[in-house]
Amino acid sequence: MGDPALDTRAGETQTTQRERMATLGMLAAGLAHELNNPAIAIGRSVDLLREGIAQVDPILRQIASHPWTDEELRFLARLGATTERAADAGIDIVERTDREESLIAWLDGHDVPSSPELAAALVERGVTPDELAALARGCSPAVVGDAMAWLSRLTLIRQLLDDVARSAARIGELVHAVKSQAYADASRRIVDVHESIESSLTLMGYKLREAKAKIVREYDRKLPRVETYGTELHQLWTNLLDNAADAIGQAKGERTVRVRTAMDGDALRIEIRDTGPGIPAALTERIFEPHFTTKAAGKGTGLGLDIVKRIVAHHHGSVACESDGAGARFVVRIPLVQPSAATDGASQSR
Ligand SMILES: Nc1ncnc2c1ncn2[C@@H]1O[C@H](COP(=O)(O)OP(=O)(O)OP(=O)(O)O)[C@@H](O)[C@H]1O
Ligand SMILES: [Mg+2]
Repeated sequence: MGDPALDTRAGETQTTQRERMATLGMLAAGLAHELNNPAIAIGRSVDLLREGIAQVDPILRQIASHPWTDEELRFLARLGATTERAADAGIDIVERTDREESLIAWLDGHDVPSSPELAAALVERGVTPDELAALARGCSPAVVGDAMAWLSRLTLIRQLLDDVARSAARIGELVHAVKSQAYADASRRIVDVHESIESSLTLMGYKLREAKAKIVREYDRKLPRVETYGTELHQLWTNLLDNAADAIGQAKGERTVRVRTAMDGDALRIEIRDTGPGIPAALTERIFEPHFTTKAAGKGTGLGLDIVKRIVAHHHGSVACESDGAGARFVVRIPLVQPSAATDGASQSR
């Protein structure tokens, strides 16, 4: 593949469209897989929410049948308020288990059908057996039992709502990642290279997980932002990660994809390394040729690295492949200072 600046305008447009279609196809597959998980999770949570809410009604009737003293009403209100507390993230696992066990013992002792979920949720909110005992002082056992049953349902409902909110946020994240990648506008913009890598990791998430790849990030967060064209950088990482996922799928031992960013003179250096089978030395030049693929028909078109090479050239950078028997390593360099659009033939032809 020649210098993009030398391509004719019509030829370049066609190639660019083909590249975009290839990348969009990859995005669509990634998106379908990634959306499936939160969609299933929301459906399951909503079913459980229906059940949980249906169970609240009989408990409320039961509660309403008690002659409540002022003390007992205060107990109910304070108990309800504990569900509003922020989660206590500071408790370590040993302490957590201890507290859960003593809460379960307390609940059993008060004839409350003790559920590990309720105990876990109470511990999560920082409620201790001592606090519960203090709250319940002076209340009849029947009131305490019904109030705890009510709290148990309320806790479950809140947890399910949190799950729904998390899944919805995940869908939002995915839509955001697609929006930033599928952007049609190819104009220049200044981006944080890590953000574009992360959104590619999000969209290739399903494939990397299927390959059981462990992702290791070694980011130099102090790196300056860099000028790019539209979503080209996303396409760049997505194609490299797609190959890394394929390679990891064939790994015999360790399954790691390492993404490292660093400053290298006046350029950003981004390295994507995998522990797959690597690339035979005789092929390390050929892999960048358009339509060169070692993958089965229908699996690879051989366009990925051609796209990578062209995008890197468009940014006046370089890409190199090294393979030392311990997997493949792709090193991309992108100069921080991009020639201005007026003097940049490559960008004018886009
Ligand atoms: N990380 C890697 N590990 C091992 N081989 C690789 C790696 N990346 C690329 N290759 C080799 O380079 C070839 C060309 O890669 P390229 O991305 O251009 O095409 P492809 O992955 O085969 O197909 P496409 O990307 O169009 O789906 C691959 O078929 C594979 O042989
Ligand atoms: Mg590829």
